[in-house]
Amino acid sequence: MSSLSTRFYTLPRINTLSRFAAIKAEIRPFRYYRYPRNIFLTTRKMASIPTIKLNHGGVEIPVIGYGLGTAHFKRAGDVALNPAIITATQTALSSGFTHLDGAEVYGNETELGVAISSASPPVPRSSLFITTKIYSAISSPSEALAVSLKKLQVDYVDLYLLHAPFWDEKEKGITIEEAWKELEGLQEKGLVKAIGVSNFLVEHLERIRKVAKIQPAVNQIEYHPYLQNPELKAYHKQHNIVTAVYGPLIPITKAAPGPLDSVIQELEKKYNKSATQILLRWTIDDGNVAITTSSKEWRIKEALEVAGFKLDEEDVEKIRIVGKEKRHRVFWTKEIQD
Ligand SMILES: NC(=O)c1ccc[n+]([C@@H]2O[C@H](COP(=O)([O-])OP(=O)(O)OC[C@H]3O[C@@H](n4cnc5c(N)ncnc54)[C@H](OP(=O)(O)O)[C@@H]3O)[C@@H](O)[C@H]2O)c1
Repeated sequence: MSSLSTRFYTLPRINTLSRFAAIKAEIRPFRYYRYPRNIFLTTRKMASIPTIKLNHGGVEIPVIGYGLGTAHFKRAGDVALNPAIITATQTALSSGFTHLDGAEVYGNETELGVAISSASPPVPRSSLFITTKIYSAISSPSEALAVSLKKLQVDYVDLYLLHAPFWDEKEKGITIEEAWKELEGLQEKGLVKAIGVSNFLVEHLERIRKVAKIQPAVNQIEYHPYLQNPELKAYHKQHNIVTAVYGPLIPITKAAPGPLDSVIQELEKKYNKSATQILLRWTIDDGNVAITTSSKEWRIKEALEVAGFKLDEEDVEKIRIVGKEKRHRVFWTKEIQD
């Protein structure tokens, strides 16, 4: 066994290679860093966060969510509770985030559970929208969900996602269609309120559509002005699938500099908002749910301020048009070639 897989070995029920692949696909170093123009956000009153109705019963998803991946990924073999993740998540909760985006492969569902159960002030379960995802443990979705619920210290999650369609079906002993049918069963049992997918392309969504009794409510994908994928978005629209977006800040972080820089600077002045807020707002005004994250309190609060303004349609369009001048994918680049 290599030293790498030894590092994963102590984690129960986790396939070492697929966890490593998922972590590698989601972690990339930043090349660019910008400080904010204003950081005095703590005293401002946050507007309440709008929601989008999912195609599953009365479930509503808040348009901005706080991610437990990327900044909070736990390194392989790191089984000790990480207080920094708990503190940052508690800050997200006390600042006003109600939508939390976790995943089995992030290795930090326990921290998420501790943060929720010890939130101050306490947040009622009914006010939260908790997502988790399954990938390494895909061979047995019901067992994997039981483990996740225990770590999260909750009786149900609001959204359960197939994290990506790229597992080896032979090795895992389960196809995409079979995994989807299992998720349908979990929803029928009330253990998950809505089910969906992440990183699925049209060909994968079509496989599900052919067998599904319950259609996917959400596809969580990398999406930003430099990665617009209109065909997939059109498919989502046609089939009533909400696009949840990760990496919304990529044009000012991992893909900077780029043709949008001057447009964003111009809009920062026009709206008196930061580049982060312009991009998060663009994501929402383009009709998506934005999943962002930060380890820093001022950035957590800055993100939540996007609920308080809106971009003019002409500015949404300007970002869309100029964004098409560059293409940049950061996550899952080995699995998705475009
Ligand atoms: N389904 C999937 O495959 C998948 C893949 C990736 C991510 N996700 C989910 O989406 C969430 C958000 O993903 P993301 O991190 O890519 O979102 P993002 O909102 O694009 O980026 C947030 C990250 O950028 C950093 N950042 C923010 N502003 C910056 C700036 N001006 N300069 C440099 N760095 C800056 C933050 O670091 P600080 O901590 O310094 O603020 C934070 O780590 C993840 O946590 C995860 O829940 C899902």
